[in-house]
Amino acid sequence: MRLAKEIARHNRLYHDQDMPAISDGEYDALVRENAELEEAFPKLVRADSPSSTVGAVPSSSLAKVLHAKPMLSLENAFAEEEVRDFVGRVRRFLSLSPEAEVALTAEPKIDGLSCSLRYEDGVLVMAATRGDGSVGEDVTANVRTIADIPQTLIGAPPLIEVRGEVFMAKDDFAALNQRQEAAGGKIFANPRNAAAGSLRQKDSGVTAARPLRFLAHGWGEVQERLSDTQENSMKRLESLGFPVSELMVKCTSVEAALDHYREIEKVRAELPFDIDGVVYKVDRIDWQERLGQVARAPRWALAHKFPAERAETAIEAIDIQVGRTGKLTPVGRLTPVGVGGVIVANVTLHNRDEIGRLGLRVGDRVRIQRAGDVIPQVVENLTRDEARDPYIFPDHCPECGSEAVAEEGEVDVRCTGGLVCPAQVIERLRHFVSRGAMDIEGLGEKSIVEFVGLGWLHGPADIFRLKQHRDDLVGREGWQAKSVDNLLAAIEAKTGFDPARLLFGLGIRHVGAVTAKDLMRAFGTLPALREAAELAGRKTDNLEGEAVGAAFKILIALDEVEGVGPVVILSLRDFFHEPHNVTAWEDLLEIAKPGAFVSTARETNWTGKTIVFTGGLERMSRDEAKAQAERLGARAAGSVSAKTDLVVAGPGAGSKLKKAAELGIQVIDEAGWEAIVAGS
Ligand code: IVH
Repeated sequence: MRLAKEIARHNRLYHDQDMPAISDGEYDALVRENAELEEAFPKLVRADSPSSTVGAVPSSSLAKVLHAKPMLSLENAFAEEEVRDFVGRVRRFLSLSPEAEVALTAEPKIDGLSCSLRYEDGVLVMAATRGDGSVGEDVTANVRTIADIPQTLIGAPPLIEVRGEVFMAKDDFAALNQRQEAAGGKIFANPRNAAAGSLRQKDSGVTAARPLRFLAHGWGEVQERLSDTQENSMKRLESLGFPVSELMVKCTSVEAALDHYREIEKVRAELPFDIDGVVYKVDRIDWQERLGQVARAPRWALAHKFPAERAETAIEAIDIQVGRTGKLTPVGRLTPVGVGGVIVANVTLHNRDEIGRLGLRVGDRVRIQRAGDVIPQVVENLTRDEARDPYIFPDHCPECGSEAVAEEGEVDVRCTGGLVCPAQVIERLRHFVSRGAMDIEGLGEKSIVEFVGLGWLHGPADIFRLKQHRDDLVGREGWQAKSVDNLLAAIEAKTGFDPARLLFGLGIRHVGAVTAKDLMRAFGTLPALREAAELAGRKTDNLEGEAVGAAFKILIALDEVEGVGPVVILSLRDFFHEPHNVTAWEDLLEIAKPGAFVSTARETNWTGKTIVFTGGLERMSRDEAKAQAERLGARAAGSVSAKTDLVVAGPGAGSKLKKAAELGIQVIDEAGWEAIVAGS
């Protein structure tokens, strides 16, 4: 159950957000573990098990496309024996004798994203990503900008869907990231993510500027069979104008296929693009049809993955890096060592627990692994010598000296000096000025980076002091007197502003926009909130968890601060416990002079009710719907619980909708919600 959720999370990070958190090898290990559990305990198989879904349900704002034929995934093999087993299974399924020849094609497995190109009467009419295998995303306009992909075909069947991989060459990826960095844009983790991010754009102009390529590896719906064999079908696609891998060969035995795997592995590092294995396909199409598919993968194909590359070296030092969100990540400095053609000098040690798990001490010999695209990591500590001092994970932030703590049940240690920590300053300021917080127009990330660089901004209070730099700013590149004055006016307009938004803008952990409002509704002013939080801190120093929450509520003599649980209270207590934060808070309150909280809500039938919005809304943004709920006096919550009064579900609503049904909570659609708003 936990595993399935974890896999689903990684699916979303990988497919939707193009930001994988783990290596492909680790992902494969999770999927395998899940498959093994399911095999051992069939009763535990979930309806949404990762074993029966492919990728993630598309969540972007691109239009959805139902695939005429599902886009399948591939079963993975890691050892040669598994490849022999695969051919054995094929033989048994088709009742062939052990001597019968089973010809296979073998070709590189390209590390990109699959795309289906539909041609009707020789004209490209639709291009779609894989999505969850059944429903993909319409990327037609974007695909039209890819030079490798023909717009029209001559001599093709009247209807044909050509499928293949959209990818980015390694050189092009490096150059793109350089351009992105120079422009302050998003840096991509690897070529595959860059390809995915470039293809899944709303604006095809962006895609056009990205160097995407395409290699065909198969087909979906076709009106006439291309050929009797996989090999000749691919040749046919090539003659129609599609790029096909030069490294595809037909092998008449499994041993020949394994030889080809080793050949490809040898040239892997020199190839202009990333590959992560070799794909074998049964050559005879009639056999492919008989073999069909299981769950999400064809029985007639197999992906033989390359092992992650490993090497041994020593850990010379452990440094701590503080991320934009305050997370302390230990980084191992290595005696440099070559791994698969690349010199590796640093490894991520992930977190405090990982160091403990490996029992790492500075000076230890370790086995490291590079999985092609992700940051190298330690797989094993080879040292059993206990004579060296154990590594002590810091309890203070190396950047700003604030306390660093891990919350209960969390592995990540975080700096608590958010407002003053230089590592977090950009992220904090960006959040502070964002639309949901102080909403300061004209102060984007680029300007924040510029002002921090100039030493004008250290914390949020400095935003209100930018006027002192007016004359220096006018005349800097991109700034005219008018734009500077507009910015300063936008800032000035936020003095005396909504204290709930200011509180949210501070980015205190667990104090989101809704919680900030709930707190302000209860306390009225920010000093009153601070007083209560500090009082709670003094009285509850030796209490933890629920007890603090209970004590806090008694202290402030409120029966219930709606929506505020012990996690929030602990977080506030920790915030005010840090002297740096108190200084920044006082500075900010003095200069920004936030007003008293004014509830914008009216008394309606919905006052005090809790509403959850889930799925896509088509006629309004999620923010607007939440604002409407608040104007009716209701709370917009993020998750469904027994306290939820109403769920507004749009297309694509998933687990929240299910939970609402289980709890018997009223569910309506967007139109129903509009009617409530209109009628209240
Ligand atoms: S065949 C029905 N061939 O790998 C078989 N897939 O892990 C469908 N991929 O979704 C795929 N190179 O995106 C095939 N030479 C290749 C491939 C390849 C990369 C991708 C494809 C597929 C994924 C499965």
